[in-house]
Amino acid sequence: MPKIFVQGHELECDRGANLRQVLMQHGVVLYNGNAQWINCHGIGTCGTCAVQVEGEVSEANWRDRTRRSLPPHTPDRHRRLACQTQVLGDVSVTKFDGFWGQGDTILWKPES
Ligand code: FES
Repeated sequence: MPKIFVQGHELECDRGANLRQVLMQHGVVLYNGNAQWINCHGIGTCGTCAVQVEGEVSEANWRDRTRRSLPPHTPDRHRRLACQTQVLGDVSVTKFDGFWGQGDTILWKPES
């Protein structure tokens, strides 16, 4: 089973599991500030679930690419929308600051 390394935890999930769902099921606070209440609930339009993912995941789909091409995201940043990402192997997840997780300051990372 793939492992997700996040906030000092090691979570297991099925191959192909949705990254957002797994994180939320394990109590990971995926959203920053009021984005916890103001988000699209995983349909890929708000962009607030953006994280940096290292490891084997699905290719970015059109919703992921489209939303991250719009401000305040920029497509050249190494981010993914958790709600549009399937876990295919072991992955490490990092969250950055900003309402959309678009910032440069790390809020949490795989080991803490
Ligand atoms: S939850 Fe809105 S884009 Fe992922």
